[in-house]
Amino acid sequence: MYNYNFLQNINGELYIENIPARLLAKNYGTPLYVYSVSEIQRKIEELKSQFINKYENVRVAYASKAFSCIAMYQLIQKNELCLDIVSGGELYTANSMNFDMSKIEFNGNNKSYEELEYAIELGVGRIIVDALDELDIIQKIAEEKNKNVKILYRVTPGVASDSHDYIVTGKKDSKFGIPLDVIDQHIKKAIEYKNIEFLGFHFHVGSQLHNNSSHLQALDIVLELIEKTKEKFNFDIEELNLGGGFGILYTDENRKDFSYFLDPMMEKIEEFFKKINSKRPSIVIEPGRSIVGEAGLTLYTVGAIKEIPNLREYLSVDGGMTDNIRPALYGAKYKALAISKLNDISNKLYRISGKCCESGDIIIDESKLPTMQRGDIIAVLSTGAYGYSMASNYNKNPIPQVVFVKDSLSQTVVQRQSYEQIIQNEVALEF
Ligand code: LLP
Repeated sequence: MYNYNFLQNINGELYIENIPARLLAKNYGTPLYVYSVSEIQRKIEELKSQFINKYENVRVAYASKAFSCIAMYQLIQKNELCLDIVSGGELYTANSMNFDMSKIEFNGNNKSYEELEYAIELGVGRIIVDALDELDIIQKIAEEKNKNVKILYRVTPGVASDSHDYIVTGKKDSKFGIPLDVIDQHIKKAIEYKNIEFLGFHFHVGSQLHNNSSHLQALDIVLELIEKTKEKFNFDIEELNLGGGFGILYTDENRKDFSYFLDPMMEKIEEFFKKINSKRPSIVIEPGRSIVGEAGLTLYTVGAIKEIPNLREYLSVDGGMTDNIRPALYGAKYKALAISKLNDISNKLYRISGKCCESGDIIIDESKLPTMQRGDIIAVLSTGAYGYSMASNYNKNPIPQVVFVKDSLSQTVVQRQSYEQIIQNEVALEF
C-alpha cells in the first residue's frame, strides 16, 4: 500500500504488518514511533542481493546515527553487518549489547580525546580520521595502550550534491573530511606512525540523494587520489569507503535501488584497479536512512483543530518538532494517513502542526485528509531515520516510545520517557 510493503488497508483501517495501527496507539499511547522489522529486514536483504552477495570483498556498515538503539543494533548484529558510530554514546550503546567491536567504524569530525581513548581501549575495527591533528592523538593513545589502530582518512572530494545544504557533506567548504590540498602530509604520517595501520580512504557526499552523479564524481576524485598515493608513496590502499546517502521515499520521490548507485561505482572501481595494476581494495558502504527510514512511522493523536476563516485549518497533534525536527530544519516533506479513515474521501486540506511553542513546528504544510476530529489518529510515514535519533526535550516534552512490529507481534524497544526522567539530572540550587 502506498509503495510500502508492510502497510495494508483492511476495511479502511491501517495495518502495520498484521497489527491494526489503532491497536498500537491504544496499547502504547501516542506519539509513538513504530518500526516494521520485516521492512528493515527486507532492506538488508536488498543490500545482500545487490551488494554483499553480488561482489567479493565488500561490507556494509549501518550508519547508526539514523536510528540508534539496542534493538536496532541487535538486528544489525544478527545480519552480520558492521556498524558506523559517531559518538561515545553510540559506542556505549553498541558495547552494552556486546556488539563485535572489530566490526565498528568510528566516524566524526571532532571526536574528543576521551571518545578516542574509549574506542581504542574497546578495540573498534576502524577509526575514520577526519580532523587534522586526530592521527597524532590516536598514535599517542595507541602507544600508551600498546595497541594498533586501523584508520582510514575521510577526504573532502569537493563535489556539490543535490540535497538540502545542511545534509550535503562532500563539498569543499565543509567541516567534514581532510581537504585534498593537504592530504599528502597526512598520508605520509599514517604510513610512518608505528601504532597506525593505514587502510585507505573514505568519502561521503551527502544524504537523501536520488541521483548517483555526485557519488560518481566523488569516486573519480578519490580514485585519482589513490593513484597519486600509489605513485608518491608506493602504497596500495586496502580499503575504500563510499559512505551512504541513498535516498528514500517520503512523498512522491522516485526512489532508486541500491544497485542504481552501487553498480556504476563498482564498475568504475574494478576498471580502475585493473588499469593501475593493483588489487582491488575492500569496498565499504555506510547506509543509514535507506535501511530504516521507510520502515518507521509515527502515530499521533489529533487534538485541537483550528479553522482560520478564509485561510486554512490547523490540525494539531500531540508531538511535533521534538520527535521530528526534519520539517523545521530542512523543510522536509512527509505524507500522513488518517489510520481509521483510509476509505473516506480526502476532502480537506489541513496544515498538520505540532504542540511545541514555535511557529515553525509544522509537520506537514498541506495534507489532504478526510474530515478529522479530536481523538483521531494519524500516521506520518517514513519517519524511521533521523526522527527518534534527533528527538529533543524542547518544552520538556517526553521523548516518545519506540515499538517494533513483526507479523502479529509488537514489542517496546525504547520506553516512553517519563516526567521524572526528564528532570532526573537536574539539581536544585543550594546557594
Ligand atoms: N556516513 C557518513 C560519514 C555520514 O556522514 C552519513 C550521514 C552517513 C554515512 C549516512 O547517510 P544516510 O545513508 O543516512 O543518508 N539528519 C539529516 C541527515 C544527516 C546525515 C549526516 N551524515 C537528515 O535528517 O536528513
